[in-house]
Amino acid sequence: MGSDGRLHEKGDGMARSAPTRWNPTTVVMDAADEEIGLATRDDIAGMLDLQEQNLPDRGGDLSVALSLEWFETAIVDMPVIVARKNGRVIGYLVSSTFAALAHLDIIKAMMRAYRGSGEAYVYGPVCVARNERGRGLAGRLFTALRRELPQREGIAFIRRDNALSLRAHARMGMCEVGEFTHKGVPHAVLAYTG
Ligand SMILES: CC(C)(COP(=O)(O)OP(=O)(O)OC[C@H]1O[C@@H](n2cnc3c(N)ncnc32)[C@H](O)[C@@H]1OP(=O)(O)O)[C@@H](O)C(=O)NCCC(=O)NCCS
Repeated sequence: MGSDGRLHEKGDGMARSAPTRWNPTTVVMDAADEEIGLATRDDIAGMLDLQEQNLPDRGGDLSVALSLEWFETAIVDMPVIVARKNGRVIGYLVSSTFAALAHLDIIKAMMRAYRGSGEAYVYGPVCVARNERGRGLAGRLFTALRRELPQREGIAFIRRDNALSLRAHARMGMCEVGEFTHKGVPHAVLAYTG
């Protein structure tokens, strides 16, 4: 992390060209009193709560647990999209630089499988509250993210056994570009251009 508190591309053998700064625009859409926009500090507790409910020890499918401090930096570094309903976080989609996640072995494994273009970023984690699933919210979060990062390549990884997520992301137009196995679990790598 740099002295200005932002995450910078660096080190770990994974140096990439400096990304173009993203251009934040207001993203608010209404569908069934749901509001979608850029996450603020006020959303972090709700995102952490949702994350907690979807980690493997609670029977969830999220592969990575991110900390409060990580989210604090992430929301100013790259777009993190959040969906709120009645003041509650019902879904979120993180985008981040590779450097921000370079401490994770699973990201290193993904990068060995597929590195993408110079300005590529990591798509995910994405998480939708259980009682909000099946009505396309993940797709609407994705639409909002693409609006924030036009022309940039996004790269995601999904466990092969998460068929539901693979289907949902194929429906969004993501294409499989590689695969890797991490801790014995096969994963697909998917990519798209914003
Ligand atoms: C994967 C995930 C983000 C999809 O979000 P979503 O907004 O429900 O996506 P969609 O509305 O497109 O629905 C995706 C599929 O889930 C099904 N589904 C899952 N739970 C459902 C529920 N409670 N009600 C209705 N449909 C449900 C849908 O029918 C759909 O199946 P289909 O592809 O056969 O049509 C969400 O299920 C989730 O947050 N899962 C837990 C965390 C996770 O796995 N993240 C992704 C890791 S790569």
